[in-house]
Amino acid sequence: MFANTASRLLAHYRENARSLPWRASPGAARTDPYRVWLSEVMLQQTTVATVIPRFQRFLDRWPTIEALAAAEDAEVLREWAGLGYYARARNLIACARAVAQRGGFPETEAELRGLPGLGDYTAAAIAAIAFGRRAVVIDTNVARVVARLHAIEQPLAETRRQIRALMDALTPDEDVGDFAQAIMDLGATVCRPRAPRCEACPLQSECAAFASGEPESFPPRALRRERPHRFGAAWWIERNDALWLVRRPARGLLGGMPALPGSEWSDVPPAEPVLATVAHGFTHFTLDLAVVARSEPLGDGWWHPMDQIAEAGLPTLYARAVSAVLDARSERRAA
Ligand code: ADE
Ligand code: SF4
Repeated sequence: MFANTASRLLAHYRENARSLPWRASPGAARTDPYRVWLSEVMLQQTTVATVIPRFQRFLDRWPTIEALAAAEDAEVLREWAGLGYYARARNLIACARAVAQRGGFPETEAELRGLPGLGDYTAAAIAAIAFGRRAVVIDTNVARVVARLHAIEQPLAETRRQIRALMDALTPDEDVGDFAQAIMDLGATVCRPRAPRCEACPLQSECAAFASGEPESFPPRALRRERPHRFGAAWWIERNDALWLVRRPARGLLGGMPALPGSEWSDVPPAEPVLATVAHGFTHFTLDLAVVARSEPLGDGWWHPMDQIAEAGLPTLYARAVSAVLDARSERRAA
C-alpha cells in the first residue's frame, strides 16, 4: 500500500507540480544545491509568494555560494530586510562561508545538519532535493498530510515520532527529491489546513481523515497559549531632512539590523507623548512600539536621508514605525 501511495503522489506531482524558480521540473536533472539551500532557508517562515521575487533578486546579486560568502554582512542583512527572522540571515552568511571554505555542500543529511542554521527539516530537504539521498522530509504541510492519511487524534506537537515513522514508511528509495516536493505541494495546494480539496486528491481512497467525513478536523489543534505583550519606545531624531539610525546589537532579536534607536522593551508602556505607535507580532510576544521625538543623536549611528528611507534596509517593525510617523504627519498637514 505504501509503495502505491508514493507512486500515486509522484504521478500527481508530474502533472501538477508548481513551477517555482528554485525547482527542477519533475524528473529533470537536480538543481544547484545553492539554490535549493537558499530557497529552503527563505521558505522556513515566509510564504512561497513572498519568497519568489526575493529569491530571484538574491540570486541576481550573489549567483554562487562563493559570491555570497564574500559579501559584506551588512549587505546581506539589507537584502534580507522584510523577510523576518534575522537569525536566519546571520546563519545564512555563516553557512555560506563554511560551505565555500570546504569547497561545496556536503551531500549527506548528517553532514548538512552540522552546517550553521540547518535543522532536521532543511538538512533532509537538501539531501533529498539537491543530492537525491533518501531522507525523511517533514515540514508542517507534510506533517498535516500524514496526520490526515492516518486520522491521528493528537495535536502534531505530541506525535512527532509517530509522524516521522509513518513518513519514513511512506518515503520511496528513488525519486526522493520529487517525492518530498510532491507531498509538500499536496499540503500547500490540496490538503490545505482549511477546506482541503479532497475531491482533487490522489490519496483520497486511502485517507482515513477523508473516510471520517471530517478531514479538516485532523490533526486537532493544540490549545494556543497567549503570547505575552511588551512595550518599547523608539526615538525619532530628525535633522536637515535626515533621520538618525543605529544598528542593533549582533545578538538578539533583529540582531545586526538597522533600526531607530530606543529603549529596552519592557512590560510597561512609555509615559512620554508619542508621534505614532505600531503593534507588531514576534514569535514569542507582541510588541507596541511607541515612537517618541528626541532632539539629540543617541548611540553609535548615522544620518539617513529621509527621502531615501525606503532603501535603509529597515526590518518590517521599524519600516512600519517610520511610515506611521510620516502618515501621521501628512494627516496633520492635510487637516
Ligand atoms: N516549502 C518549503 N520548501 C518547499 C519545496 N521545495 N516545495 C514545496 N513547498 C516547499
Ligand atoms: Fe488531505 Fe483530503 Fe487528500 Fe486526505 S483525501 S490527504 S484529507 S486532501
